[in-house]
Amino acid sequence: MTAIRSVVLGCGSYLPERILTNAELASRIDTSDEWIVQRTGIRERHVAAEGEFTSHLAIKAARAALHHARLDAQAIDLIVLATSTPDNTFPATAVAVQEGLGINHGAAFDLQAVCSGFVFALATADSFLRAGTYKRALVIGAETFSRILDWNDRGTCVLFGDGAGAVVLEAQTEPGKSSDRGVLTTHLRSDGRHKSKLYVDGGPSSTQTVGLLRMEGREVFKHAVGMITDVIVDAFNATGLTADDIDWFIPHQANKRIIDASAHKLHIAPQKVVLTVDLHGNTSAASIPLALAVAVKDGRVKKGDLLLLEAMGGGFTWGSALVRW
Ligand code: UT7
Repeated sequence: MTAIRSVVLGCGSYLPERILTNAELASRIDTSDEWIVQRTGIRERHVAAEGEFTSHLAIKAARAALHHARLDAQAIDLIVLATSTPDNTFPATAVAVQEGLGINHGAAFDLQAVCSGFVFALATADSFLRAGTYKRALVIGAETFSRILDWNDRGTCVLFGDGAGAVVLEAQTEPGKSSDRGVLTTHLRSDGRHKSKLYVDGGPSSTQTVGLLRMEGREVFKHAVGMITDVIVDAFNATGLTADDIDWFIPHQANKRIIDASAHKLHIAPQKVVLTVDLHGNTSAASIPLALAVAVKDGRVKKGDLLLLEAMGGGFTWGSALVRW
């Protein structure tokens, strides 16, 4: 029995030019390169320029993904943009991207699942493609977290960075096996009991301000590895695939310690883990497609490779995806 699969045609990313190092942060607040590297693995992050918005980063990443896919923007009929830092409260940043790409057919909308946003957006686009509603989708994760950080809070401001990544998906008929190319399975979870452990203290309905990011870091850390590994086990159970089948583990890049512990618990070899947290910091919904673009560009990810994606973040939300390149 054949199956419709969302096959990845290409990916791309964009990072703002300005690099903010740990040393520069240490000259401004009570922190050190040593503390940040030891606790998180982060060495530097990129920060958007004044007047550079989430949509601008997203458009550049989308253009790079279309170029990699050798596809004209007009072939796209769905844009799902994961972000927690939209240009405006509304309209969706996705429509600014749609306009920027010169597309005026199909649908474009934002999706908000904080750091899990890319996995949620991938699952959403995959559902539409498999249902036959749309044919080709751009799935984008784009963030300017620098705009919602309290730069005096050393517990959070050292962790995050700005950037965008995108993939182009196309509905294709495949044999219907775990050896198919494309998105093989996705698993999404949330639990609102944890909503005050990682949140922004403002919003249009509550305070009429944008607000700043607040996090009980230790609490988030405590739950992260268990949630991540559970939802990956769900992906393995759904497909019959195992950790041994994985070619590349491309996790959300929040903290090297969380990534290492998750890989260790799942018996995924360290050399199969794609790590970009050192150079990008935590770029929330953008981190997975940014890491993916690095591993595709440097030749690690090859056609037919099995990729394991996962993320966990505010809400809490968490999710996994298995994708054959
Ligand atoms: O992407 C969404 C999900 N988010 C995450 O996954 C983040 C999860 N949490 C974490 O990654 C870690 O909890 C952090 C990196 C945020 C913090 O690491 P930690 O090992 O949990 O440290 P901690 O919060 O327990 O703080 C330890 C100490 C504290 O000092 P005392 O109370 O022991 O005297 C903090 O005040 O480190 C201090 N500290 C810092 N010191 C230097 C906190 N931030 C800093 C800093 N520089 N930037």
